[in-house]
Amino acid sequence: MTLFRLTQISDTHLARRLPKLTDNFDRIRNYLDATRPDLVVNSGDLGFDAPSSPDDLVFAKELHDALPVPCRYLPGNHDVGDNPTKVGPVPARAVNEADRQAFIAACGDDRWRFDAAGWCFIGLNSLVMNSGLASEAEQFDWLASELSTTEGRPVALFLHKPLFLDTPEDAELAASAIRYVPMPARLRLIEMLRVADVRLIASGHVHQRRDFTFDHIRHVWAPSTGFVIPDSLQERIGTKEVGLVEYRFQPNSFEVFHVKVPGQIDIDLDDLFGGKAG
Ligand SMILES: [Fe+2]
Ligand SMILES: [Fe+2]
Repeated sequence: MTLFRLTQISDTHLARRLPKLTDNFDRIRNYLDATRPDLVVNSGDLGFDAPSSPDDLVFAKELHDALPVPCRYLPGNHDVGDNPTKVGPVPARAVNEADRQAFIAACGDDRWRFDAAGWCFIGLNSLVMNSGLASEAEQFDWLASELSTTEGRPVALFLHKPLFLDTPEDAELAASAIRYVPMPARLRLIEMLRVADVRLIASGHVHQRRDFTFDHIRHVWAPSTGFVIPDSLQERIGTKEVGLVEYRFQPNSFEVFHVKVPGQIDIDLDDLFGGKAG
């Protein structure tokens, strides 16, 4: 296969009690049916909040199983709990092994690697980083092993949280520490990636679309398929819209397409519960 078409969706936040999000997901399904990529990757927050409402993940998986294309999954903080950080408040639900195992039981492994079209694709669980859980060390060991077998092929990395806003050394701030892979795991990860030809780091989590290149690596932030977060709750650092990201990988090159799917509605988090949208 010399062309591999991958579509990234993220932050679907599905729940039976929130039909407006299901409506937006239905438009995604129709679009995937029309475009038929080789693979869909959901980069996390599949359910609205599975740790407090386990049926959200069950419902999300049911809808993904009904998609007409194969899917891979990575966990988000609303699937397995959140990272501890040095400077931010203690998460309401910290990442923990029980929630991680529930995710794996529903969606498959929380980290993966496969090769296609001359590329190596690696998915990571970004929530265990900085957690001290056994799976954090296991994942770093596993990553080192996988990176050692890329044999010069370009690497595309997928994970829920972006690494940073502008540079790897960005200071962690109390107000935004939970937005990025936390220190010190962030710098460890970046150092590890230097042994391979990493060209793309694709993330979700922020519910804003963003696309920039730093140190020869393209960083793509996929928006949520479901809803945007109002400016009163979150500063605007990218584009606030719902949608997805399409990639076309060929040996030694790739293209990125930012797509808002026909019929999708930019539901605001306030509208979701206030009944104003859709
Ligand atoms: Fe999210
Ligand atoms: Fe998230």
